[in-house]
Amino acid sequence: MPEAASVAPPEYGAFPAYVRPAVTGIETQQILAVSQIALGDKSVIPLWYGESDVPTPDFICKAAQDALSAGETFYSHKRGTPELRETLAGYMSDLYGREIGVDRVSVTASGMSGIMLLFQCLIDPGDNAIIACPVWPNAQSVVRALGGEARFHSLDRVPPAERGDEGGGWRLDVEALKAKCDARTRAIFVNSPNNPTGWVLPADQIAELLSFARERGIWIIADEVYGRMVYDGRAAPSFLEQVEPDDPVFVVNSFSKSWAMTGWRVGWTVHPPQFGELLGNMIEFNYSCVPPFVMQAADVAIREGEPFVRRMVDYCRESRDIVFDALPGLPHVADCAPPDASFYAFFRIDGTQDRTLAFAQQLVREAKVGVAPGTAFGPGAEGWYRLCFAQKPETVREAVRRLGEALERL
Ligand SMILES: Cc1ncc(COP(=O)(O)O)c(C=O)c1O
Repeated sequence: MPEAASVAPPEYGAFPAYVRPAVTGIETQQILAVSQIALGDKSVIPLWYGESDVPTPDFICKAAQDALSAGETFYSHKRGTPELRETLAGYMSDLYGREIGVDRVSVTASGMSGIMLLFQCLIDPGDNAIIACPVWPNAQSVVRALGGEARFHSLDRVPPAERGDEGGGWRLDVEALKAKCDARTRAIFVNSPNNPTGWVLPADQIAELLSFARERGIWIIADEVYGRMVYDGRAAPSFLEQVEPDDPVFVVNSFSKSWAMTGWRVGWTVHPPQFGELLGNMIEFNYSCVPPFVMQAADVAIREGEPFVRRMVDYCRESRDIVFDALPGLPHVADCAPPDASFYAFFRIDGTQDRTLAFAQQLVREAKVGVAPGTAFGPGAEGWYRLCFAQKPETVREAVRRLGEALERL
């Protein structure tokens, strides 16, 4: 099984006592290996992380401030306040046109923590999870930290001549993914809309994955944190449009992206009802609960946030168009198509496939623009780069100009 090109694990000092090798063996994230070289350097335009420059809107901040003033500073419900769970259940039932009961909803301390909690429930040492890639790197690290095997399945590139409406030019071969599952496969992790490619899993393939999961008793973890960051329509196709309550499916979501709340650390999962108590226990052992004032703000974000969610999409659309007006014409840039969803440009730079990380680091040092190396996202993305365009138009315009100058010299 191919491994992601990796940065060696950090050189830890000698520990005073035993630490699990599954944990010490985890590589430094390649995105950090790029961003760390420019820590505090204001002359660099940092487009390496998956974050917009839009601050959390005032109406959400005010809800947290009001909650703090009202004394919402104590331990709270481990699976989330009844109010917030009710609000989330209603929001999703309306969005996906299917009743989603409150017993299937648990609030988590971010999308990341939802993923960690779920894998903690599923992976024993020696088990594996199939991870469709390229993908945001943290899921694979979690599986490894738990002693499991992150088994990648690469999306295929769609040849330009065959590209119709398929976003970003990627597609999933479901049969080939199924063939990677064995008796120790506990989960299939699929992130759609996808970070970094913008690929969107179509409804017919959701149905195929779902029927395979039912048949084989393998969990699907569907990371849908970019579900609202779509440039056409209200939401991307979701597992929630098709799952029955008892299906082996978890849907992970987050307030980070569409509500501009990355630093708040709050998200939610949808799961079979019988999983709620178990998840509540695991939340208790990890962090007890999400802070109550954060949950009040999250509740207001959902109840009053629709206009803001739409503004975020418009904001990203404008920057996406600026980037894709210029990017395809830059020297050495190949394979670059505007995504239908998420807020990333994922593109190849010819002639850099044997030094992707080094080239991303060179761009920081010499061009003062920070992008993430494709090799951070699993195997098969050598020579690819991810640029987060969820920024002001002038920021992305200048970033692409700098990139162009650097590529002239390549
Ligand atoms: C695909 C994907 N899933 C999950 C997350 C986690 O988001 P958070 O932990 O901020 O909720 C991210 C963040 O970049 C992401 O890109």
